[in-house]
Amino acid sequence: MIPQQIIAVSNQKGGVGKTTTTVNLSTALAATGRSVLVIDADPQGNASTGLGIDKKQRDDDLYQLISGTITIDQAIISTNIKGVDVIPASTDLSAVELELASKKDRNNRLKALIKNIKTDYDYVFIDCPPSLGLLTVNALAAANSILIPLQCEYYALEGLSQLMDTVEMVREGLNPRLTIKGLVLTMYDSRNNLSSMVAKDVREHLGSLVYKTVIPRNVRVSEAPSYGVPVLLYDINCAGSEAYIALAGEVIKQEKNNGKTR
Ligand SMILES: Nc1ncnc2c1ncn2[C@@H]1O[C@H](COP(=O)(O)OP(=O)(O)O)[C@@H](O)[C@H]1O
Ligand SMILES: [Mg+2]
Repeated sequence: MIPQQIIAVSNQKGGVGKTTTTVNLSTALAATGRSVLVIDADPQGNASTGLGIDKKQRDDDLYQLISGTITIDQAIISTNIKGVDVIPASTDLSAVELELASKKDRNNRLKALIKNIKTDYDYVFIDCPPSLGLLTVNALAAANSILIPLQCEYYALEGLSQLMDTVEMVREGLNPRLTIKGLVLTMYDSRNNLSSMVAKDVREHLGSLVYKTVIPRNVRVSEAPSYGVPVLLYDINCAGSEAYIALAGEVIKQEKNNGKTR
C-alpha cells in the first residue's frame, strides 16, 4: 500500500530542527487520529531516541532493511505514541552510503522498499541526515515532498540553494513529482532581533512556501528527548508543543486544500 504522503524532512545543515520537527509534527498529526510512520534515515538515530526506542530495539534497523537482510514488516516497530510507528536507525546505517555506492539501483532502494508497506499510513516522514549523500537522495527519490526546517540564525538561507539544486537534480532524474511541502522556521527567539530579521528575510525570499507557524526556541523542546518522549507528551502546554500542534494544523489544511503541496 503506498502511503498517502511521504515527506522527507531535510536540510543538509545539522542542528536546524529536522529531527525535532519530524518527531513532534508526527506526534501532533497522530494526535488528530492520523497514522504516521517515521523512517529514521540518520545514523545518529536521534529520531529513534526521541520516539523512545532504546538501543536494544535497533538491531533490525534501516540499514538491515536497505541491505535486504530484513523485510519492511520486520523493520517497522511501534512506539509508545499511539498512531506512530518507526523504522529505527542504528550506527550501522553509516555504512550504507559506501555499500550502496557501487549498486545500480542505489538511488531508488528506499522507494522500492516503501512500496511494500502493508499498513495504510497517512504520513511517512523520513528524517534525513545532515548531508546531501545517498541517504538523502534516497529519501527525496521516495518522497512526494520535502519539508525544510530553517533555523532562525544569520546563515539560515545559506546552503538553501545547494539543497534546492539537489531537489532539482532529483526532479530531473529520479522523481519529477517531488514538491516542496514547505519551510518551517525553527528555534525562533522573540527576545532576539536577529530571529525576527531572519524570519522577515526568509519570508521575503520564499513567501508562501514558508509556514505561518514559527517554532520558538523553548527549553522544554530540548529537554524532552532525554526522556525519550516528544515534547507534546512531556509538556503539552509549553510554547514548543503549541507550535507543533499549530504546524500540524497547517499541514492538515494543506491536505484539505487538496494541496498535497503548498
Ligand atoms: N524549538 C527548539 N527549542 C529549543 N531547542 C531545540 C528546538 N528545536 C531543536 N532544539 C534542539 O536543538 C538541537 C538540534 O535539533 P535537531 O532537531 O536534532 O536538529 P537536526 O535534526 O536538524 O540536526 C537538539 O539538541 C534539539 O533538542
Ligand atoms: Mg537530526
